Amino acid sequence: MTELEVKNLYKIFGSNPNEARKLAEEGVPKDKILKETGNTIGVNNVSFKVEKGETFVVMGLSGSGKSTLIRCLNRLQDPTFGEVHVNGRNIVTLNKQELRDLRRTKMSMVFQNFGLFPHRSVRRNVDYGLEIQGIGMEERKKRAYEALKLVGLEGYEEMKTTELSGGMQQRVGLARALVLDPDILLMDEAFSALDPLIKRNMQDELLELQEKVKKTIVFITHDLDEALKLGDRIAVMYEGSVVQIGTPEEILTEPANDYVRDFVENVDRTKVLTAESIMKKPLAVVDSREGPKAAIRRMEKEEISSIYVVDKSRILQGVVDIEDAKRLADKGVKSLKSILKSDYDTTALDTRIIDLLPLASRTNYPIAVIDDKQRLMGVIVRVSVISGISREGVDNDA
Ligand SMILES: Nc1ncnc2c1ncn2[C@@H]1O[C@H](COP(=O)(O)OP(=O)(O)O)[C@@H](O)[C@H]1O
Ligand SMILES: [Mg+2]
Repeated sequence: MTELEVKNLYKIFGSNPNEARKLAEEGVPKDKILKETGNTIGVNNVSFKVEKGETFVVMGLSGSGKSTLIRCLNRLQDPTFGEVHVNGRNIVTLNKQELRDLRRTKMSMVFQNFGLFPHRSVRRNVDYGLEIQGIGMEERKKRAYEALKLVGLEGYEEMKTTELSGGMQQRVGLARALVLDPDILLMDEAFSALDPLIKRNMQDELLELQEKVKKTIVFITHDLDEALKLGDRIAVMYEGSVVQIGTPEEILTEPANDYVRDFVENVDRTKVLTAESIMKKPLAVVDSREGPKAAIRRMEKEEISSIYVVDKSRILQGVVDIEDAKRLADKGVKSLKSILKSDYDTTALDTRIIDLLPLASRTNYPIAVIDDKQRLMGVIVRVSVISGISREGVDNDA
């Protein structure tokens, strides 16, 4: 289900947006438009959809228009042209009161610089949004405690925010957004001000939290690693335009232009690509229908020394070695059962390559990639060479 849809959105700063837009449509670069018209293109004809429960990351260099875009989503800034639909309703036309309701119930925002009240306790920072809704003290307290528990700040409720570290302050910021139980969380460089280690912790915790709360998240960052780690999909912005939208894998393996290519050039691909993206078509024999002879034939043809065995639903049964199969064939035995071995490694489709590397040194057989029904979906051969792809990308057929 689509929760958020942006249609042909423009934000143009200056007094002549019509002219600036016309030039932008003709492909005139942003700096030239500024020189000729005095207008700055903040967001340039951006369209995308975000599904319910999705984490949608907007990534781009500083000045590419990320903050302007996200601020148009809850109308902290008014779009110059275009539409923003929240659950099918165009919010560009809402009046002040309707906007206030929207921000209280549908979407809330987490800022880079926390924006906390220094004179209020942690709890009283978190319950602020409830207080302005006129919700009573007891309920506010209860909900603030729940939100603080979600972000791991149990026990800190009555402290002053000034006594907390940066990471903890940002947790308070997050709890303040979560306490409203919005459907959509807007996070603008929420972790960018944190030290690298704390930043990574916060990313891990956001992923864990998202498993529990399943919000629709629009997450802004200039940090590619962060984008790849958090995003179900990533939109890459350049000079106000979205130049590519795709899954982390798509962004890495099929960059849409040189800008994206430069961006992703130095990424460690083992941290992003999954077993599914590097597996090969599985060679397997069917246990009940084919015996040792079929297995031997296939292994000889493919010049391999072992082969996986599946049942007729492709559910993985085991692996056989060619020597064992030959012995069995000599004896005239038809079933592979007696020589099935199970000392192979399996992995799920979505396992990151980096997590497969420890298997590389100890596995005798290709790693079997299985789906959640234990069906053999592919094999990963020679996992030891995988680390070599970290800068070169997978050898896709293109
Ligand atoms: N209030 C404003 N007035 C004029 N120009 C602005 C304003 N806000 C942002 N801009 C311009 O819009 C562009 C995008 O800025 P911003 O959205 O802050 O980028 P990002 O968040 O990606 O760093 C920049 O060129 C910036 O200078
Ligand atoms: Mg910004």
